[in-house]
Amino acid sequence: MQTLTLMLLFISPLFLPFSTAAKTPQDLLRSSCAQARYPTLCVQTLTNQVTPTTKPLDLAQAAVKASLTRTLTLSVYLKNTLKSQVKPAVESTASNRKRVALNDCVAQITDSVSELNQTLNELKHLHMGTFEWQISNAQTWASTAITNGNLCVNGLNRKGAEEKVKMEVKRRVKDVSMFTSNALYFISKLGESRNPKPHSNSKN
Ligand SMILES: *[C@@H]1O[C@H](CO)[C@@H](O)[C@H](O)[C@H]1NC(C)=O
Repeated sequence: MQTLTLMLLFISPLFLPFSTAAKTPQDLLRSSCAQARYPTLCVQTLTNQVTPTTKPLDLAQAAVKASLTRTLTLSVYLKNTLKSQVKPAVESTASNRKRVALNDCVAQITDSVSELNQTLNELKHLHMGTFEWQISNAQTWASTAITNGNLCVNGLNRKGAEEKVKMEVKRRVKDVSMFTSNALYFISKLGESRNPKPHSNSKN
């Protein structure tokens, strides 16, 4: 069993470096990012991450880490913003709704943090036997993290918020979701890398 697992690891392209024929890290980085949802951001994020021995798994983990870091920063920003909203002596319905919207954002983005953390943990503990299932879990969690960001922005639009706060939260949520979209791309690529012929339609 042990030997079989080792053999599978050895022959799996997932655990092998990219082909390195006469390619500089910069070339590898650009070609890795070319199909990402946000290629320029992708290159910026992964500069210094790509070496000739970089594997699809490394890229996926690095992209998820980048998204997780940004999402954590966003959650801290939201918590501080919520704290700074002084509760008026006489609460109006409108001011209450605004605080509820921001409070919902804190909860939603806190969920995103834990979803991205789960995504990263999944990518750190991939096993051959459960690989596809784990990739699918990672995709679900990362997508849910994006959805939570959208729910936050929709809530602010619906329930109201100070215009300045709303614009800033929207900008930050958008920024974070760009990182997460790129991470999703690398998770999908990692999923495909398991199959040496992704375009073949063989039914096994
Ligand atoms: C992420 O998950 C790990 C392992 O479960 C845990 O130790 C860590 O505290 C989590 N980090 C965050 C930011 O949730």
